[in-house]
Amino acid sequence: MVPVPRALSTPPTVLPGTACGSPQPVLPAAPGLVLRPWQPADAPAFLAAYQDPEIRRWHTRRPHSEADVHAWFDRYHQDWERERGAHWAVARSDGEVLGRIASGSWDFDDGIAGVSYWVLPSARGAGVATLAVTALAAWALEEIGFHRLQLDHSTRNRASCRVATKSGFLLEGTKRGAAVHDDGRHDMHLHARLRETRPGHG
Ligand SMILES: CC(C)(COP(=O)(O)OP(=O)(O)OC[C@H]1O[C@@H](n2cnc3c(N)ncnc32)[C@H](O)[C@@H]1OP(=O)(O)O)[C@@H](O)C(=O)NCCC(=O)NCCS
Repeated sequence: MVPVPRALSTPPTVLPGTACGSPQPVLPAAPGLVLRPWQPADAPAFLAAYQDPEIRRWHTRRPHSEADVHAWFDRYHQDWERERGAHWAVARSDGEVLGRIASGSWDFDDGIAGVSYWVLPSARGAGVATLAVTALAAWALEEIGFHRLQLDHSTRNRASCRVATKSGFLLEGTKRGAAVHDDGRHDMHLHARLRETRPGHG
């Protein structure tokens, strides 16, 4: 077969095959805290998380049954295999789920990826989200080679704004009316962290 020439004039920032060539890794976030791939046994905890009013307030895409959760976990697996994104449970070393973190919308050409997260109410206020975002960012920027990680949150979600800022994601601006929540349309803050501007790396 005659190879089809690439339409893009510039080389990809991240070479295809960089991630999916190996199993999705377990990432250490802190002593006793890891990011690990979701397992079928996590389905009840994952489903229960979406009963929390704060998670429902900020996340409008929700599973409605354990069957939905298993379908989501299958899609997470496919996202990894097809290099579209990576989804992790934030968990204690003994396996207990404390939260969720994901990197989606992978664009290897420009080297850009998104980040999203939630933490269970019982685990909030202990730095779990900040540790998880920091560990994900280090892996995505240094091991995969993304140039830019970005996340957005409602301008009314001050806790998420704090997590983003503490994790080195600078506030770049406000996207007006950019997302619909249950109570209507919200302005969204855009934050990003670049490889060159990692804390301590100028
Ligand atoms: C936002 C969320 C992920 C934070 O998780 P967490 O593990 O408690 O976060 P951390 O402990 O790492 O840091 C929380 C920071 O936010 C601050 N914070 C928490 N609640 C806050 C609030 N209501 N207003 C302002 N700041 C708040 C904390 O004080 C802390 O900052 P500090 O260390 O300077 O004091 C968690 O509250 C959550 O899951 N909320 C519901 C879902 C959600 O908002 N997801 C993100 C959608 S973009």
